[in-house]
Amino acid sequence: MLIQVENLTHIYSQGTPFEHVALREVNLEIAAGERVGILGPTGSGKSTLVQLLAGLFKPTSGRVLLEGESIHGKEATARRLRLQVGLAFQYPEDQIFEQTVFREIAFGLRNLNLRRTEIEARVNWALEMVGLNPAAVAQRMPFALSGGERRRVALASILAMHPRVLILDEPTAGQDSQGRRALLENVGRWQRETGMTLIIVSHALEDLAVLVERVIALKEGRVVADGPARQVLSDAPLLLDIGLDVPEPVALLQALRQAGKNVRVDCFLPAEAAAEIARAWGLQEIVS
Ligand SMILES: Nc1ncnc2c1ncn2[C@@H]1O[C@H](COP(=O)(O)OP(=O)(O)O)[C@@H](O)[C@H]1O
Ligand SMILES: [Mg+2]
Repeated sequence: MLIQVENLTHIYSQGTPFEHVALREVNLEIAAGERVGILGPTGSGKSTLVQLLAGLFKPTSGRVLLEGESIHGKEATARRLRLQVGLAFQYPEDQIFEQTVFREIAFGLRNLNLRRTEIEARVNWALEMVGLNPAAVAQRMPFALSGGERRRVALASILAMHPRVLILDEPTAGQDSQGRRALLENVGRWQRETGMTLIIVSHALEDLAVLVERVIALKEGRVVADGPARQVLSDAPLLLDIGLDVPEPVALLQALRQAGKNVRVDCFLPAEAAAEIARAWGLQEIVS
């Protein structure tokens, strides 16, 4: 198993009046090459979980293993393991330090003993992956970019490292819908080409619907569901219980079913719902 999370509990500011339990006894396993979504409302512990997966700080208790070795263990081992996991933060401001976009993305690459031409090629590739034009942005200051552009630069700097495990925390926040779709398509294509493991945190169900095969749902720091994306994303009682909206296509199909129509309800993409409605009404020209 690539990633094993065992009894992971994290308490911020333990022993102070600000003590807050962010994760409670989380157990999960992720196999190499899986595409996993982490779903949950704000405050449910998603960012804490992925930061622990990336080894950014130590959990209060429990373990994260990468191929059987603790990512929070002996420093040399932990450093080697952490290089294999790339996390694009939810707040890119926390991740950007350099004076130009080029230097920002090249930063991690310099430690990999790559040739200058290889570094340039990877920077350009990574910028294109996130939908930015290298010629237009490479020499700009990251802090002069819009929030959405900065998020893309932060993501490009992670992609450029070619991590085995890519973790994206709310990657489409602050992007328009075309930009979102292009970004998700590029990441999805890259995942298929490389077979890397992909973990995406989002509270946007439609982002997860197009990209992942499995969804883990968190509520108040606990795993409350872990299953095929289709099943979890169309589980209306579960979604309402954890405080998320039911996808509109699912809600529509449920209303039809309550009205006595014999339709499936696990169609969370609009085109799928349309095909299901066409089938139930015998509108063959739409189905085909
Ligand atoms: N550095 C911190 N200190 C204290 N509490 C924190 C800190 N970071 C997060 N929390 C709290 O932990 C809980 C989980 O946070 P987080 O993992 O960021 O959730 P999510 O990403 O699902 O919104 C929230 O209630 C949040 O307020
Ligand atoms: Mg978060």
